[in-house]
Amino acid sequence: MPVIPSFTSSTREIPESGIIPRHIAIIMDGNGRWAKKRFMPRVAGHKRGVETVRTAIKACIERGVEYLTLFAFSSENWRRPTDEVAFLMQLFINMLEQELSKLHENGIRFKVIGDLSKFEPKIVECVRNGEALTADNSRFTLTIAANYGGRWDIMQAVRKMMDQCPQLATCFDEKDLMQHFALNHAPEPDLFIRTGGEKRISNFLLWQLAYTELYFTDTLWPDFDARALDLAIQSYQQRERRFGRTSEQLQPAQSAHGEREAAVKRTA
Ligand code: IPE
Ligand code: IPE
Ligand code: MG
Repeated sequence: MPVIPSFTSSTREIPESGIIPRHIAIIMDGNGRWAKKRFMPRVAGHKRGVETVRTAIKACIERGVEYLTLFAFSSENWRRPTDEVAFLMQLFINMLEQELSKLHENGIRFKVIGDLSKFEPKIVECVRNGEALTADNSRFTLTIAANYGGRWDIMQAVRKMMDQCPQLATCFDEKDLMQHFALNHAPEPDLFIRTGGEKRISNFLLWQLAYTELYFTDTLWPDFDARALDLAIQSYQQRERRFGRTSEQLQPAQSAHGEREAAVKRTA
């Protein structure tokens, strides 16, 4: 059985947080509107959105982000017109075929979260091969959420836990459940970004966003460039992450942090 790293649960322990978010989770929204504005078919926006994914990965690595989780297809997106769904599936296959070796060369670990049972066997095989190929890369983790839903994730985690440890049925805690979440390979996101102007979670990481800083921008996903990412990170840097405590309680910790920073500067 693989060893599952255990990450802090923000409702049980206070996680460490730095100037740069360690984990960014993004709802990449607005592809259709981007295309519509240009009198192009919606799918042209999805195609363009793939380029933005490349830009975002590069920019995150350059800024020292360690985990990037991208919502590519929700469990509710099957409700879209059949031809749009088919196009998105083909785009996913192309991405798997063309990008995996490049991700590996760049030391990126590739993961997919979501209910893969609804995908063609060819896609599932490509995903599993890609995950196996990149499993030992530790520089950066890219997670694609495909046919993902936060409610599905919680349900499947409960089922897995009950199946593997039936004795927990009457008494289990967050840690017992957390290791069965699809995103158990990453800490909880520090920063959540939704492009495209909507202010909702749309069934993304319902459990993991408990204490994540939320950032909503009107920028449509195909227009979300490195500068737009910097604006999101700047907004994050202005937040006071209290995790339930008062602002006053944070002061000693912050001044200790400030002293450490000053000491680093003095020694530099
Ligand atoms: C997000 O863009 C991509 C997916 C959901 C696959 P949309 O396709 O939702 O774009 P809008 O929201 O219609 O503009
Ligand atoms: C959320 O976007 C899902 C993805 C970006 C993959 P949607 O465009 O599907 O969300 P709603 O329907 O506007 O909430
Ligand atoms: Mg949308």
